[in-house]
Amino acid sequence: MSIKREHWGSRLGFIMATAGSAIGLGNIWKFPYMAGENGGAAFIIIYLALVFTIGLSVLLAEIMIGRSTQSDAVTAFKKLGHGGFSVVGYMGIAAAFMILSFYCVVAGWTIAYIIKFASGHFVGMGGAELGAEFGSFIAAPVKPILYQGGFVILTVIVVLGGIANGIERAGKILMPLLFVILIALVIRGVTLPGAERGLEFFLAPDFSKITGSTIMAALGQAFFSLSLGMGAILTYGSYLDKTANIGKSASQVAFLDTLVAILAGLAILPAVFAFNMDPGAGPGLTFVTLPAVFSAMPGGYIFGPLFFCLLTIAALTSSVSLLEPLVAFFSTKGFSRAQITIASGFLTFLMGIPCSLSFGLLSDFKIIDRNFFDLMDFLTANLMLPIGGMLIAIFAGWVITPLAIREVSGEGDHGLLTKAWIFILRFVAPIAIALILLSGLDIIQF
Ligand code: PFF
Repeated sequence: MSIKREHWGSRLGFIMATAGSAIGLGNIWKFPYMAGENGGAAFIIIYLALVFTIGLSVLLAEIMIGRSTQSDAVTAFKKLGHGGFSVVGYMGIAAAFMILSFYCVVAGWTIAYIIKFASGHFVGMGGAELGAEFGSFIAAPVKPILYQGGFVILTVIVVLGGIANGIERAGKILMPLLFVILIALVIRGVTLPGAERGLEFFLAPDFSKITGSTIMAALGQAFFSLSLGMGAILTYGSYLDKTANIGKSASQVAFLDTLVAILAGLAILPAVFAFNMDPGAGPGLTFVTLPAVFSAMPGGYIFGPLFFCLLTIAALTSSVSLLEPLVAFFSTKGFSRAQITIASGFLTFLMGIPCSLSFGLLSDFKIIDRNFFDLMDFLTANLMLPIGGMLIAIFAGWVITPLAIREVSGEGDHGLLTKAWIFILRFVAPIAIALILLSGLDIIQF
C-alpha cells in the first residue's frame, strides 16, 4: 500500500523550513565567538569560501537525492540501487537521537532564561552572580529536565502537524520573526557607546590567526551549521516536487544561514565589548556574559528576553528537522506520524536526562574522558556528521553521477557550475572531510 507523500506547499515554504533547520544554536552562540577568536574577518572569509564550495555542494547533493527518490534517508539509497549507502540513513537516525538529546537540554535553558528575564529575576545581578546562578541552575536535578521536556513537547507539536501544516508553517512564521528580533538586537548592539571595539574584534581581519586547525574548525562549523551529513536535509528534499529549481534553493539556504551567523556576531560582540565583558567562549557567553550585558544596558529588560526568544525559535526550527527524518523512516515501517513522533519525542526526553544531569549528579561519570553531554556532541559533530557528509559526496559525485547531473541541470546541459559541483563532490569534499575527521580525532594536528 502506498500512501501519497506529503509535499511542501510552496518553494518559499521549503526554503524557510530548510533555513530554519540550518539556523540554530550553532549560528547564534557558536559562530560569533569562533570568528572573534580566530582572526575576525579573515575567519569569516574562509568560512564563506567553505560554505559556498563544499557546504553548498553537499547541501545540494542531499536535496537532490531526497527529491529524486521521494524517500527517507534509508530507502533513498536502496531505491537508487545502492543499499550499502543506506548506512548514511541508519547513522543519521542514531545521530538525530543523539543530537536531539543534548540540543533539547540547551534549548530548555533558553526557555528558562526567557522566563527568568521576563520575571525580573536578574535585576541588579553582576557577572559573578550570574555565573553562579547559571552554574547552580544547570546543576539542579529536576528543573532543567522539566524545561528540556517542555522543549521536546514543543518540537513534537510542530512535527505532529506534518509537513505543510506543521514544519512549513512554523518556518514561515518563526523565521521572519527571528530576523526581526535579530535586526532589533543588531541595531541596539551597534549603537551602544563603545561598540566599535566589539566590531573591531569581530571584523578586523587578522590573517596571522589562520592556521590549518582554524580552517578545519571552520569546515566543521560549516557542516554542523548547514545541518549536513545525517539525512535531515535529504528528508526535507524528499518533500519537494520535481519542478523545483534546487540549485537556487540550496544557494538561498546557505546565504540565509551565513547571514544569520554574521548578524548574530554584530548583535552580540559590540554589546559585550561596550560593557567591558569577556568575549570568552561557549555556553558562558550566552548564559552568563550576555545576561550581564542585558542587565546593564538601557532597555535590557526588553532585549534580554527577546534574545532568549530568538535562541528558542532558532533551536525549535532545528530540532523539528532532527525529529522529521525519524518520522520519515519509521513511517515506511507502517507506523503513523502521531505514533512515531510521540514515541521518538519520549525517547529523546529520556536520552536528554543523562545529558542534563552531566552538569550535576552525573558530572563525574565519564566515558572516553567526557561526560554524557559532551560525548553526544563529540560523537555526532566530530564523527557521524562528517562521515555521513563524506559518503553523500562520494555517492553523488562517483556513484550516481549522470542522475545527479540530470537532476540539477536538466537533460543535456553540462554547465560550468554543474561541472564544478561534481568536481567538488568527487575530490575536494571527501579530502577536506577526511582531514576534519582526522584532526577532530586528534590523529593529525595542523
Ligand atoms: N544546524 C543546526 C545549528 O546550527 O544549530 C544544528 C543541526 C540541526 C545539525 C539539524 C544537524 C541537523 F540535522
